[in-house]
Amino acid sequence: MSLVEVSRDGVVCVVRLRREEKLNALSSALESDLKDVLASDELRTSACVVVTGGERAFSAGADVNELRDRTPEAVVDYYRETGDVYERVAALPQPTLSAISGYCLGGGLELALATDFRIADETAAFGFPEVALGILPSSGGTQRVTRLVGPARAKELMLLRPRFDAREALAYGLVTEVVPDGTALGRALELARGLAELPPLAASVTKQAIDAMPESSQAAGILIERLAYGLLSQTEGAP
Ligand code: COA
Repeated sequence: MSLVEVSRDGVVCVVRLRREEKLNALSSALESDLKDVLASDELRTSACVVVTGGERAFSAGADVNELRDRTPEAVVDYYRETGDVYERVAALPQPTLSAISGYCLGGGLELALATDFRIADETAAFGFPEVALGILPSSGGTQRVTRLVGPARAKELMLLRPRFDAREALAYGLVTEVVPDGTALGRALELARGLAELPPLAASVTKQAIDAMPESSQAAGILIERLAYGLLSQTEGAP
């Protein structure tokens, strides 16, 4: 049975982590199933994607049993085989959201950060346990958190704060909205339906232009923006 379930709610694709008994710990088997889901027709033909977990946990992070005794060669193989799934989520062309309840730790938080928006309910518990374990967030975390909140806050969250709650995450700019218990998925779906109504090419190109921004000089970024406008202005319905 797959550890990641994919379903459709109209034009919205819902991706649910299904390893509840292990708090959706991100084993390589789960990451592999997530990669398969990213290639599925249900996802590829959708206008928007919502990633979610269970009531107790969006995900408690990397499977700690797989972290032990990894040789440098095994680390390289890991990123080649399944550890690249976070970057694949980030590279999806359509808008993406995470609906978060319960634990959202380490790699779980990195997965959520690979989506465009994060909707958390009041039960959400965030944190980066990696440094205390002697490693670091290495599924895009150091990059995305720093870009979202700046280097000082990123260091605070990774080195000083074992846990933070949904309200704090909102204040830091790590989550988009905090909603009452049990309503994160409903709210994420509501936002997803709104995103799905946007002209798809405009939404996708805007997302990609913003994602390319930290990699570009201002001049290159402005050029990307103008070229993207040149493309979009030719699409049906554009003024
Ligand atoms: N990797 C592997 N298994 C994990 C896991 C992880 N990251 N997080 C939880 N689990 C497993 C537990 O081993 C347990 O399995 P078992 O029932 O077979 O013993 C099950 O999920 C439930 O977890 P449990 O610890 O009993 O729940 P809890 O409510 O007492 O504690 C946490 C919840 C999240 C505080 C605790 O599970 C935890 O600290 N997990 C590790 C978090 C972590 O360090 N993640 C990042 C790694 S870089």
